[in-house]
Amino acid sequence: MAQNPIDMIVADHRTVERLFAEYQHAAAAERRSIAERLFGALEAHARMEEQVFYPAVADQKERAATDRVAEAQREHGDIKLMIAELRNRAPGAAFDERMANLKEAVEHHVKEEETELLPYAAERLSGHENAIAREMERVKMSIAHADERGIA
Ligand SMILES: [Fe+2]
Ligand SMILES: [Fe+2]
Repeated sequence: MAQNPIDMIVADHRTVERLFAEYQHAAAAERRSIAERLFGALEAHARMEEQVFYPAVADQKERAATDRVAEAQREHGDIKLMIAELRNRAPGAAFDERMANLKEAVEHHVKEEETELLPYAAERLSGHENAIAREMERVKMSIAHADERGIA
């Protein structure tokens, strides 16, 4: 399946945004399971970027590339901490408030990727898109299979 890494990333971003909207409009009893789906989607996306896409971009050995990737990785770290915190919390007003903070952090990160990192990468990775997309797909599938076996 020939895919473009940029399109794959943007599609994931839209999925995550949809899940945040779903969360906001859901009844209280449904929120926890939507939040769990959202965390899973964010983690799978982050792993795909960290294992394949970011290294491919940082491999350019240019200061601008490594700086952008380092910044993105820092933001992933913050987002992961927020998710870990949320997983230890009971649903309720404080949970909702933290979900709103998570949404803000994710929106900021997505905006930076889509306005800076992705346009930069699109230019630099030209000609390697298929190989990178295949690797990204492979990581995604391995996470999905690990989830099915309950070992993620
Ligand atoms: Fe992303
Ligand atoms: Fe990211």
